[in-house]
Amino acid sequence: MVVVAPSMLGADFGRLREMAELVAPISGYLHMDVMDGHFVPNLTMGPDTVSALKGLAPLDVHLMVTDPCNFIEPFVEAGAAMISVHVEANEAMKAIRMIKEKNIKSGIAIKPSTPLESVMQFLTPEYYEADMVLVMSVEPGFCGQKFHPEALERIGKIREMKPEVLIEVDGGIGTENAKSVQDAGADILVAGSAIFNAEDPLTAAKKIAGLE
Ligand code: DX5
Ligand code: ZN
Repeated sequence: MVVVAPSMLGADFGRLREMAELVAPISGYLHMDVMDGHFVPNLTMGPDTVSALKGLAPLDVHLMVTDPCNFIEPFVEAGAAMISVHVEANEAMKAIRMIKEKNIKSGIAIKPSTPLESVMQFLTPEYYEADMVLVMSVEPGFCGQKFHPEALERIGKIREMKPEVLIEVDGGIGTENAKSVQDAGADILVAGSAIFNAEDPLTAAKKIAGLE
């Protein structure tokens, strides 16, 4: 079954908790986009923002930072149920090991422009096998970009090679393409602007999750 993970970056930060409370009951996770202004040209949220939403739904922290190892501990303390780091970041393997040592779920994220082969070493037991692959379907940095259809083929390839790994897809997902992303093999659909720019965010989130 697919679950929806609303990207809180798409919400009005002045009403962040209110918006999270609205969508949390039907959300598998609340997706929290952490950007350092270096790995991507944007600054977003830190551990205090993440912990402000603790207890509403499991928190899925997507680190778009150059040095993820510096941030594992603070986000675990903030209440993360899952942390993803980018394969393009420094010491990604060490970061995955650190996350696993904290007994929470680990994800390896990949940008659309990075060859898929680079995540494969994270999916073999000889290394520190990640629980999830986060397939980016837009270049990371901002909400509201257009879905890259090439992501569908990537999802299929990962699913074929590793049937049991969780696959999360992030970027440009809305009610019009959620079903095709799910059919390609995704388990978790992240959506920001399609939910929080909608007149009725809860209904939009339900539709993306296939609940309505
Ligand atoms: C992009 C972020 C995404 C983004 C999704 O760097 O990782 O999670 O907030 O927003 P939409 O759904 O609007 O593409
Ligand atoms: Zn994200």
